Amino acid sequence: MRIRKIRPGEAAPAVELARTLGLDYPGLESDPLWVAEEGGRPIGLVALKKHPDCLELCALGVDPDFRGKGVARALVEALMDKAPGDVHLATIIPRFFEGCGFHIIKDAIPATFPAKRETSWCEGCPQERCMVMLRTRQ
Ligand SMILES: CC(C)(COP(=O)(O)OP(=O)(O)OC[C@H]1O[C@@H](n2cnc3c(N)ncnc32)[C@H](O)[C@@H]1OP(=O)(O)O)[C@@H](O)C(=O)NCCC(=O)NCCS
Repeated sequence: MRIRKIRPGEAAPAVELARTLGLDYPGLESDPLWVAEEGGRPIGLVALKKHPDCLELCALGVDPDFRGKGVARALVEALMDKAPGDVHLATIIPRFFEGCGFHIIKDAIPATFPAKRETSWCEGCPQERCMVMLRTRQ
């Protein structure tokens, strides 16, 4: 398994994987993207979205056949290694992200997150389980 940041113009296979996993969003192909590859094909991805008020880790997903092998954690570390600042995210699986060094925040939540919940981005996700989390850059 190899993890790498993909170059502009190379995003199509990763975007297709995101679509398969239900994690794609408008503009995903233009955001910085990291992929985990096996045999030259993407088996996992994660994106970093730059909002006016924060950086957000988005679209973390791993092909079901490759889960439970540390692929997602390795993708998070690759992103954090290059992120140009603190990183926020919103998730319904906070235990997973606590294992990756994030902590739940209740105060100082960037306006991006409550604003997103008013859009189709959050459709179908149980909002009462959605936590905003932060990992500060070392
Ligand atoms: C969540 C997901 C990305 C995990 O991918 P993965 O490659 O299997 O995760 P890893 O193997 O790196 O797991 C790292 C650790 O997190 C734990 N973990 C994995 N999935 C978890 C979950 N859903 N909840 C809590 N902990 C989880 C693992 O047990 C492992 O712990 P360990 O190191 O103590 O053994 C993957 O299941 C997935 O793609 N799910 C669908 C998309 C999704 O929910 N994305 C997150 C959106 S916010």
